[in-house]
Amino acid sequence: KYEKKYYLPPTLSYDWVKKETVEKAPIWCSVDLRDGNQALPIPMNLEEKLEMFQLLVDIGFKEIEVAFPAASDTEFNLLRTLIDNNMIPDDVTIMVITQAREHIIRRTFEAIQGAPKAIVHLYNSTSEAQRRQVFKKTKEEIKQIAVDGAILVKELAEETGGDIYFQYSPESFPGTEVEYALDICNSVLDIWKPIPEHKAIINIPTTVENAMPHIYASQIEYIHKNLSYREAVTLSIHPHNDRGCGVSDAEFGVLAGAERVEGTLFGIGERTGNVDLITLAMNMYSQGYDPELNFSNLDAIRKKYEGLTRTTVHERQPYSGDLVFTAFSGSHQDAISKGMKYRRENKLEKWDVPYIPVDPADLGRNYQTDVIRINSQSGKGGIGYILESNYGIKLPYKMNEEMGYLTKKVSDETNKELSAEEIYLVFIDHYVDY
Ligand code: KIV
Ligand code: ZN
Repeated sequence: KYEKKYYLPPTLSYDWVKKETVEKAPIWCSVDLRDGNQALPIPMNLEEKLEMFQLLVDIGFKEIEVAFPAASDTEFNLLRTLIDNNMIPDDVTIMVITQAREHIIRRTFEAIQGAPKAIVHLYNSTSEAQRRQVFKKTKEEIKQIAVDGAILVKELAEETGGDIYFQYSPESFPGTEVEYALDICNSVLDIWKPIPEHKAIINIPTTVENAMPHIYASQIEYIHKNLSYREAVTLSIHPHNDRGCGVSDAEFGVLAGAERVEGTLFGIGERTGNVDLITLAMNMYSQGYDPELNFSNLDAIRKKYEGLTRTTVHERQPYSGDLVFTAFSGSHQDAISKGMKYRRENKLEKWDVPYIPVDPADLGRNYQTDVIRINSQSGKGGIGYILESNYGIKLPYKMNEEMGYLTKKVSDETNKELSAEEIYLVFIDHYVDY
C-alpha cells in the first residue's frame, strides 16, 4: 500500500554534513498569520490578527506573512488596516500569498495598494500526484502556470509602485521531481530577473514531509548549487512536520545552503504543523549563538498565543512546555540541586547544570517551581532543595533522608504530586511539637 514517494536529486554530495551546527541566524519569516491561522478550527478575527502581528514584531520578526488576502474579507481587511493606519514598522516587511491564478493575483495587489514595502508570494502545486490527479495537466502546462503568474505579478508590481519583492514556492515540492522543480524556479526567475540589490526569494516547502531530513537537505543543496541568479536569490525553506522532523529539516536545510526559514511559533500549522521557530531559535541560543529573536519572556508569549489562537501548548513542547524544565526523578533532582549549588558557589556565568539544557531564567521561567517537582519518584535532594529555596530550612543529612522517605510515602499513598506547601506540612507534622 505504501512506498517511498520522494525524488532524489541527480547528484548527492552531502557537503553540508561536515558543518557542525547553525551558527548564524537565518532570515526568519513567521507564517503564523497565514499557515498557522489557516489550520485553526476558529481562525483569528481582525483584532486578534492585529494583536498577533504586534506580538511577532515584539519578538523581533522582520518578515511576516500576514495573510492570503484573496481568501476572505478578514484577510483582505487586515492588510488595509495595517497599511491605512501605518502600523507596519519600517524594519518589518509584510508578505502576502497568492495562488498563480489571475483573479487571485489581482485581488492580492488590491490588498497591498499603498504598502511601502511588501513581498508577494506566488505559488502553484507541482507534484506528480497533483498533476495527475488534481490538475490533469502535463509538466509543461504546470510550469506555464507558474510562469504566467510570475509575469502578471511583475506587471502589477510595476503598476502598483512601492518596494515590492517577489517570492515563488513550488507547492507540494516533496512529491515533485527535483530537477523539474528547479527548472520551474529558474523559469520564474527568468521572468523576474532579480539583482543582488533587490533579491527574489525561492521557497522550497515540505508541504507534506515525506522523507528523512538528510534527503530534504540534499534536495536543498542541489537547488542551492544549481539555482540561476544565485547571488540575487534568497533560498528559503518551509518545513512541515508530518514525520515529526520539521526541526531537523530546517537545521539540515540551513546547513545545506538555505538562508531563510519560514515557520510558526509553537509549530502551529496544517496537520502536524509547521516547524516551531522557537525551538530552532533556542537550539541556536543553547549552543552560544544569537538567534536574533527574543524569547526572554516565553511564558508571556505563550499565554498571549494560546489566547489568540485558542490552542494549548503541549506540556512537553521543547523550551515552552510546562514540564520541560522539570525533574521528578530523585537522581535527576539530586544532580540538579548540586549543579545549582556548585554554580552559585563558584559564581559561574557558564551554564552546565545537569539535566537542564538552558537556564530557565533566560526564558523568564523560574527555578523553584519549574525545575524540581515532587512525587513518589523524587528523592531527598529535591525535597531538601524545595524546603531550602522556599522556606529557608536547611536540613541536616539524616533528617533530609528521613524527610525524603516521609514525603515519598505521602505522595505514593495519595498518588499525587506534592506542592512546596504540602512538603512543608509533612515537615511540620513530623518534626514540630505543638
Ligand atoms: O506548505 C506549503 O507548501 C505552503 C506553500 C503555500 C508555501 O504553505
Ligand atoms: Zn505550509
